[in-house]
Amino acid sequence: MASTGTPNPPGRFPAGARAFPHRDLTGIAQLERHEILFLLAEAEQWVEFNRRADKHCDALSGQTIINAFFENSTRTLLSFEIAGKRLGADVVNMHAAQSSVKKGETLIDTAVTLNAMRADAIVIRHGSSGAVDLIASKVDCPVLNAGDGQHEHPTQALLDALALRHALEARGEGSEDFTGLTVTICGDILHSRVARSNILCLQALGASVRLCAPPALMPAGVEAMGAATFADFDAALDGADVAMMLRLQTERMSGQFIPSAREYHHLYGLTRARLDRCAPDALVMHPGPMNRGVEIDSDVADMLDRSIITRQVEMGVAVRMACLDVLTRRGRAVPGWNDGQWT
Ligand code: NCD
Repeated sequence: MASTGTPNPPGRFPAGARAFPHRDLTGIAQLERHEILFLLAEAEQWVEFNRRADKHCDALSGQTIINAFFENSTRTLLSFEIAGKRLGADVVNMHAAQSSVKKGETLIDTAVTLNAMRADAIVIRHGSSGAVDLIASKVDCPVLNAGDGQHEHPTQALLDALALRHALEARGEGSEDFTGLTVTICGDILHSRVARSNILCLQALGASVRLCAPPALMPAGVEAMGAATFADFDAALDGADVAMMLRLQTERMSGQFIPSAREYHHLYGLTRARLDRCAPDALVMHPGPMNRGVEIDSDVADMLDRSIITRQVEMGVAVRMACLDVLTRRGRAVPGWNDGQWT
């Protein structure tokens, strides 16, 4: 059991397949479907664990985890920090504002410095797409992507999948994957690493994905990822099982992408009336931070029976515990775990 430092055996994966053959978690694009299911199965035990009064174990005792955040974050940084601490690791947070990055140090020099400190895992958030892969290529320990530019945010997609699975289970509609489910992702798709990782993850698990954005915020050629695209929000929501709303990432915009927040809300804000266009009992998701009254109305965000936004936050800790635990297993002796799989 987790509390003794020995994790539970994971969920199913094909005979002969190595359960988790990757050193790093830089994107959902690198994962096979059974690897996604494996990480979700691993996370389940930590959901239970996190609901206990005593939420500490020594699975990662003696391990050092560095959270290197070059971009602002509240929930992702906190979530990774809590995850590492509940696993018994020594967790150190590096904020770019206080680091030598501000003194002109290159990303590669920062990576070499972090590596020399012999961390056992490094969690990175960075404003540039590909920065996490670059750091991963320069260090000797597992690297986890906590969001790189407009590229990927893999733990967000995994926690979204876990939250969705739990919400469906609570209604008696649970199954391992999302076959037959339609998810509409609406908002600033162009700048969203959350959208990109979710398109990959949801589709790998069998869901149909619809994307909705003003034309200026829809990435060119995104249909090649297999999602249907819409400029009309009402059409995109028609009969959908899930509405996943995204924030306008104004910090990544240079120039005017939308006329005004008011106009945006009028065309793309999720209101009660708009939610009625979805399937009956459709669920509402948002990765946070929310801009209430812009992409989502408060009376929708706070609907107890439909909104799973706080459940997403809860699942975030469990998913990050699973990812840290699985990725650091190579450097640790874990009874029953041998070269990427349970024996
Ligand atoms: C997202 C991010 O940083 O990409 N937030 C998060 O991780 N919870 C989305 C956003 O900032 O809008």
